[in-house]
Amino acid sequence: MNINREIQKRRTFAIISHPDAGKTTLTEKLLLFGGAIQTAGAVKSNKIRKSAASDFMDIERQRGISVATSVMTFEYNNLYINILDTPGHKDFAEDTYRTLTAVDSVILVVDSVKGVEEQTEKLMNVCRMRNTPVIIFVNKLDREGMPPFELMDELERKLDINVHPLTWPIGMGKGFRGVYNLHEKNIYLFKPGKTTIEYVRLLISDLGDAELDRKLGSDAGRLREDVELIEGVYDPFDAADYLNGAVAPVFFGSALNNFGVRELLETFVAIAPPPKERETDQRIVEPEEEKFSGFIFKIHANLDPRHRDRIAFLRVCSGKFERDKYFYHVRLNKELRFNNPYNFLARSKSVVDVAYPGDVVGLYDRNNFKIGDTLTEGDSFTFRGIPSFSPEIFKELINTDPMRSKQLEKGIEQLTDEGVAQLFTQQDGRRKIVGTVGELQFDVIQHRLEYEYGASCRFQSMNYAIACWITSDRPGKVEKFIRAKSRHIAYDKDNNPVFFAESQWLLNSAIENFPEIEFHFTSEFKTDASVISNGREAI
Ligand code: G4P
Repeated sequence: MNINREIQKRRTFAIISHPDAGKTTLTEKLLLFGGAIQTAGAVKSNKIRKSAASDFMDIERQRGISVATSVMTFEYNNLYINILDTPGHKDFAEDTYRTLTAVDSVILVVDSVKGVEEQTEKLMNVCRMRNTPVIIFVNKLDREGMPPFELMDELERKLDINVHPLTWPIGMGKGFRGVYNLHEKNIYLFKPGKTTIEYVRLLISDLGDAELDRKLGSDAGRLREDVELIEGVYDPFDAADYLNGAVAPVFFGSALNNFGVRELLETFVAIAPPPKERETDQRIVEPEEEKFSGFIFKIHANLDPRHRDRIAFLRVCSGKFERDKYFYHVRLNKELRFNNPYNFLARSKSVVDVAYPGDVVGLYDRNNFKIGDTLTEGDSFTFRGIPSFSPEIFKELINTDPMRSKQLEKGIEQLTDEGVAQLFTQQDGRRKIVGTVGELQFDVIQHRLEYEYGASCRFQSMNYAIACWITSDRPGKVEKFIRAKSRHIAYDKDNNPVFFAESQWLLNSAIENFPEIEFHFTSEFKTDASVISNGREAI
């Protein structure tokens, strides 16, 4: 088997958006167009079935959100397309950030009515850190949204990326007539319909074609003006700019009405990158290398609380993953083998014998894995670029049943290994601070500690608003800072010192008073974009 051929067939990406922009709907429609599902509604009903199957997921069901990040694979045009789904709720944003470390490209969904929302900006920051190629889908054109030129300006300004329209809307809301494909120079006429995948293509010789006036009436003139303006403003689209993360192509449509999804998918398969090389702490690893390597980007609790095993999601980075073969777990310095690894073809799980770079494999795990762990075929490198991101809410974990202290210790260790939240300690581990990006995680943790570990706890609010990892090039400076700010220092699970500030103002004053200290918003310090002492700011 030629591994290079397998690699070139893989397209692994995530669909991301601010909640409610239409990510789930678009995912479903891509599966529908890709032939992986037959009816619309399948993805959402899958969510509900999943939550009904477990106690822990009650939280999810009650709040009507999806906690899980899953993988959906389908074949299209002789390609294996892996969609890594991301949780819709903003409280689970860190899950999404980490999923972005495992993809080769991203489709970003923006609601045409609401424009660029807060969560979209944060997600884009993560994409920018890794120069991930991004395609933007402007959704809900069947509603009265922002004027398209205004929207393009907002995309550029708020997402800090050059954009390039590849389709252009004709009208919007009640007057939405379709889109003009700027590349093919064709018109696709809008025909509302939620379950069909038909569309009407209007073949025109050029924009001067009188057929356009017959079909579009007064909208034809507006389209001609818009296209003239677009062609004046934007240089011809160059896929290389997209691939290095400098330009994001933009599509317009309505996922709910299956409109604009086909053009998106066709362009995606034509330009999205196959798996690329990846950075480790020792060297760059190429996907074509003979020896297998990969990393864990997500750990999922077993939905059945009677069984403690979890599912670790492995992204294959090089070589060939094989079932029943021993691989090397670098952090634990031990060999592991997996008899029941599985993949996710069209939403159903099946045992997988081999997997190639770009693929995601689910591994049953009995607490061997932590987020970011590397598996290899003997090499001892560790993949970089899977950082922890600075949490936003901090609470002290208080044990309310001293007889169950051990269970609480174990539970919180394991849950934080899974990436549900981050754990920081003070006073030699006696004081535990849990950091999350959303309130909901505290409910999830409390619930799981009780049901899975039999431990009981409560959370006490803390005044902190920001946490930064601190480093310095100059010897003794970090120690001096820690002495000066001792009450505001805690340690992460790898014993790295972290500075906690009550406000941005207090952080700024620390930055000013200690110019020799670097403050980082992610745990991986080499990622320059996360350093704020040099004036740049990430999440
Ligand atoms: P998310 O995963 O990004 O959170 O968004 P989701 O797809 O769940 O969509 C959020 C809401 O927006 C849904 O309505 C969905 O039907 C609607 N929607 C998605 N695409 C379009 C579109 O192109 N046009 C319009 N008008 N609406 C769209 P809902 O009422 O919250 O849910 P549901 O009852 O329809 O499932």
